[in-house]
Amino acid sequence: MHHPKRPTRIALAGLHGYGSVHLEQLRHMAGAVKLVAVADPRPPAPGSLPESTQVFDDLGELLASVPDLDVVIIATPLDTHFRLAELALRAGANVYLEKPPVTSMADFDRLVAVERECKGSVQVGFQGLGLHQSTVFTDAVAGIGEVSAIGAVGLWQRSDSYWNRSRWAGRRVLDGVDIVDGTATNPFAHAVVSALHLAGVKRRADIGAIDTDLFRANAIESDDTAVVRIETTGDVLITCAFTLCAAMPAEPYLRVTGSLGTLRFRYTEDCLELGDGLRIPLERRCLLRNMVEHVNNRAELLSPLCDSEPFMVVLDAIRTGPAPSPIPPEFLSSSPNLTVVVDGIEQWIELAVERGATFTELGAPWAQAELPLLVDVAARENAG
Ligand SMILES: NC(=O)c1ccc[n+]([C@@H]2O[C@H](COP(=O)([O-])OP(=O)(O)OC[C@H]3O[C@@H](n4cnc5c(N)ncnc54)[C@H](O)[C@@H]3O)[C@@H](O)[C@H]2O)c1
Repeated sequence: MHHPKRPTRIALAGLHGYGSVHLEQLRHMAGAVKLVAVADPRPPAPGSLPESTQVFDDLGELLASVPDLDVVIIATPLDTHFRLAELALRAGANVYLEKPPVTSMADFDRLVAVERECKGSVQVGFQGLGLHQSTVFTDAVAGIGEVSAIGAVGLWQRSDSYWNRSRWAGRRVLDGVDIVDGTATNPFAHAVVSALHLAGVKRRADIGAIDTDLFRANAIESDDTAVVRIETTGDVLITCAFTLCAAMPAEPYLRVTGSLGTLRFRYTEDCLELGDGLRIPLERRCLLRNMVEHVNNRAELLSPLCDSEPFMVVLDAIRTGPAPSPIPPEFLSSSPNLTVVVDGIEQWIELAVERGATFTELGAPWAQAELPLLVDVAARENAG
């Protein structure tokens, strides 16, 4: 085994926002890693960085000035990911790239090609995959037999400050460039990735049809309430039902149905919940530590870029599918936290996951503005 003679040399692009979580993680790893330089057009808060860390306002300048970087962490707006990841790879570094990795399938294919040409590797920040590794997890999933259906449930609230924090927030396109911010592609992307992983979906050929049923209750362009249904060639039906307009927010989970039983994977609470309600804690492996082990000892990456391929198929279906429909104001109210609420959304999400149906198919009243009821769910069940 190769032991490092010096701390792993790290640069961070994107300091504020989610970058602050990486700064905290790097502090925990002090000694094993050294934050050599940062890049952000907004300067760091005084005293927030180690004294030796060099500060740049642009990653290109940083890469031209700072030699021998092992890892560049990219925690910047979505539309910058491809360009910055390519720069870092071509400078010889490994890349820890925040999710979603890029904003179109074409950019994904281009980035995979760049990675192949360069010596560095890309780890994508789908940190929930760090929970899939333990034997507790794999044994419990094996215990429910052959997986036939996965429901992903997300009920969060988001205030105006969330949508106003950055120009790209709540956009599908900005200045002519794809952003594809939305429930399934950003805040609940971890649920989508975990569902695909649990369904055994590894590459784009493992995905059949994808239906998107997108809505927006906030004054945004992208969806804040959505069903995304994914059929796999392995006959697993994945139904993702998400909202950022819940009356009663709750931690997201995946409900996994197998031939021998069901379980809930509570990926933000680091536990599995068995059919009888028993919760089993899961060990979480840190993706950044894993990347450092990869640099020093060739450890296998937990979330290599190529494994994001199925997620990118879903993102592309959302990007190229129908734009979200506005939910009429008569179906909306306000929570005590002053966030927008879609009335009754908790029940519609439960029903969507239960029946593997979209809001439009279920006949949610706010989903019927232009379309008649497409599928009579009861009739379909009787027929089935
Ligand atoms: N893994 C997770 O759970 C998780 C959670 C939240 C956000 N994220 C991801 O983190 C990334 C950043 O999200 P955010 O909400 O912090 O975004 P943000 O818009 O707040 O930007 C983050 C930082 O990037 C800086 N920046 C902008 N352009 C830059 C450039 N060209 N070079 C260097 N820095 C630049 C901004 O000044 C800001 O400090 C996104 O990919 C987001 O999806 C991941």
